[in-house]
Amino acid sequence: MKKIAIAIDGPAGAGKSTIARMVAEKLNIHYLDTGAMYRAVALKVLNEGLDPSNHEQVVSILPSTHIGVTYQYGIQSVYLDGEDVTHLLRQPEVGKAASAVAVIPEVRMKLVELQRNIAQNYSVVVDGRDIGTFVLPNADRKFYLTATLEERVRRRWLEMREKGYNQSMEDVKKELEARDRNDMERAFAPLRKAEDAILIDTTGKSIEQVVSEVCRYLPDLSAYGR
Ligand code: DC
Repeated sequence: MKKIAIAIDGPAGAGKSTIARMVAEKLNIHYLDTGAMYRAVALKVLNEGLDPSNHEQVVSILPSTHIGVTYQYGIQSVYLDGEDVTHLLRQPEVGKAASAVAVIPEVRMKLVELQRNIAQNYSVVVDGRDIGTFVLPNADRKFYLTATLEERVRRRWLEMREKGYNQSMEDVKKELEARDRNDMERAFAPLRKAEDAILIDTTGKSIEQVVSEVCRYLPDLSAYGR
């Protein structure tokens, strides 16, 4: 049976991962968090003591870097060279380094191949920056989630606090602005809304509101397999 692919793109802090996870759970299909893959490459670069923005250094470790994902009850685990690193990926410095390594075309092509493979084998909700424009241009539905910078800063600050990272609002704001710049201005597969993506501004909306808004646009699932 044909697999369904739902693409959710947008800037950091727009609510993509929460919404994508909940929509996938509702549909009982996999949630593919592509940011986690960039974060895993970034973690390796940091572990090796390399500079995430040094193209040559990053490319040099790619052939010996193995990124894998597995699913259990729909939950994604990310493996770096055989080790489960899922719990290490949300650290602020890893996010920053992920945005830097994501500029490098060789990194992107390696991960995009993996992402396309997964989407070929499973029905998925995929969140990222270039899913609707580059990774899965024929996705069955595309969404572009945004929110004001203030709201994104507030959400990211809360997330970091819950995870035990003590960052000031001002630092989170600076970091998000830098990430927006990196993600939108890179030459290869930058963050932008696909022409056929449905735009949803999540500012001031509850998670449930956004999930039901997304679900309103979904096709009849009975035509698809998992
Ligand atoms: O969604 P996230 O914060 O986990 O993503 C971390 C970084 O990875 C983000 O700043 C840009 C990059 N990324 C990307 O370039 N393309 C994707 N499809 C997903 C993430």
